[in-house]
Amino acid sequence: MVTLLENPLRSGLQQDRVPAPQILTIFGASGDLTQRKLIPALYQMKRERRLPPEITIVGFARREWTHDYFRDHMREGVEQFGSGLGSEATWNEFAKGLYYFAGDLDNPESYQNLKTFLSTLDEQRGTRGNRVFYLSVAPRFFSEAILQLGAAGMIENPKKQRMVIEKPFGRDLSSAQALNRVVQKVCDETQVYRIDHYLGKETVQNLMVFRFANAIFEPLWNRQFVDNVQITVAETVGLEGRAGYYETAGALRDMVQNHLMQLFCLTAMEPPNSLDADSIRGEKVKVLQATHLSNVEDIRLTATRGQYTSGWMKGKQVPGYREEEGAAIDSITPTYAALKLSIDNWRWKGVPFYMRTAKRMPKRVSEISIQFKEVPFLMFQSAAQQMNPNVLALRIQPDEGISMRFDVKTPGNSLRTRPVEMDFRYESAFGQPNTDAYARLLIDCMLGDQTLFTRGDEVEASWRILTPLLQVWDAPAPPEVVPLYEAGTWGPVEAELLLQRDGRKWRRLL
Ligand code: BG6
Repeated sequence: MVTLLENPLRSGLQQDRVPAPQILTIFGASGDLTQRKLIPALYQMKRERRLPPEITIVGFARREWTHDYFRDHMREGVEQFGSGLGSEATWNEFAKGLYYFAGDLDNPESYQNLKTFLSTLDEQRGTRGNRVFYLSVAPRFFSEAILQLGAAGMIENPKKQRMVIEKPFGRDLSSAQALNRVVQKVCDETQVYRIDHYLGKETVQNLMVFRFANAIFEPLWNRQFVDNVQITVAETVGLEGRAGYYETAGALRDMVQNHLMQLFCLTAMEPPNSLDADSIRGEKVKVLQATHLSNVEDIRLTATRGQYTSGWMKGKQVPGYREEEGAAIDSITPTYAALKLSIDNWRWKGVPFYMRTAKRMPKRVSEISIQFKEVPFLMFQSAAQQMNPNVLALRIQPDEGISMRFDVKTPGNSLRTRPVEMDFRYESAFGQPNTDAYARLLIDCMLGDQTLFTRGDEVEASWRILTPLLQVWDAPAPPEVVPLYEAGTWGPVEAELLLQRDGRKWRRLL
């Protein structure tokens, strides 16, 4: 239990400003992300009066939808996936600013027509030429869309025109570099917002506040006191009808290269000089540059993959990965990835960072646990007859919070110890739901704040670390090469071995 004190510290990253009037054009607007995440997030912001009344959203996709069809479809999304419609009047006002534009991503004429359409909207809605282009299309279309926007002269003014690029940004180091070259050819880095929705999560941002606004943790945050760090992002969901994308991605591209690497950076980086975007992003790049797979010569000693088979989840039988619609019968796409990273710098030399992420785990849980070293000599009898090193766990989701494990004496005559946990829970302390990650990031982009977006060199540094592993895992191989785990279990036995070889265990996440 934590008591809130007066005058709580503001993160500095927090802003309550309302962005200037603008048009957000979403490419790939007929896709899931727009209906499930983007529009519900924008509508939530509308209800909280954090969007200007002139805000205008244009959905761009190939299908021949009308404005009204688009509005109805988005309304369903808000009702089903958002935090509710609120009043009919608020929805109607929001819906008035929703438009649909049918076009082809590879047709220059579509962009010219879109450009004219946006100028007309400027006059009607007072959006003053301010634009955000959101690329929510399949990654293979990113380059095309960026080049076309450039050729149409739609992304020339860094002060007024910005571009959001979804993940994954590239498939490996060389494709990420190639995509960065396209981006650089067309626009200025200050216009580019590579989005990773994990950075919009409240608890992820809190990591920096926790580390750098509290004096007591920083002195312990290094190789002298920390034994190892474990980063886990476990999901209960399976493929969710996304085989077309997931078969080409797998857990490393879908989760590790972006979301887990961001958690890693914020945990391992040095304190930035200030909270401005480039100081923070500069520190992230530095730590990534010092990081490598712990054993590049023998990948099996540094990483484990896995794929789920049929199993039981919440009393229901779920299909195995290879039985999911759209997945190949002999697919080797990993739905589980665990790896061990090493950092060559003064702070972390010799401290392994273990990461794991998977689909169809027994529980949805994301956390970073800092496992401290054992005491040099235990003079008490421990109830479990073993040392219980201190663990600081930063829970990202759900049940966001922070807990600290330490030993106490059990009541009674004998001097025995037992581990207990001191727990801070966001919900009980603040009693309000966190702002949706997409909402937070969309507002930041409209305000021109790049702090929570990935810079070009950062994304390359992260791919550089993983590329040797991708080369091995991508190589054609018979299906038996991928260890299997039953849906609803904590992954393949090989993942346990990864830590057992180092005399360690994954933290149990019950
Ligand atoms: C997305 C991945 O980026 O993140 C999905 O493509 C994954 O596969 C999702 O399910 C997880 O996000 P969250 O916010 O639910 O942890």
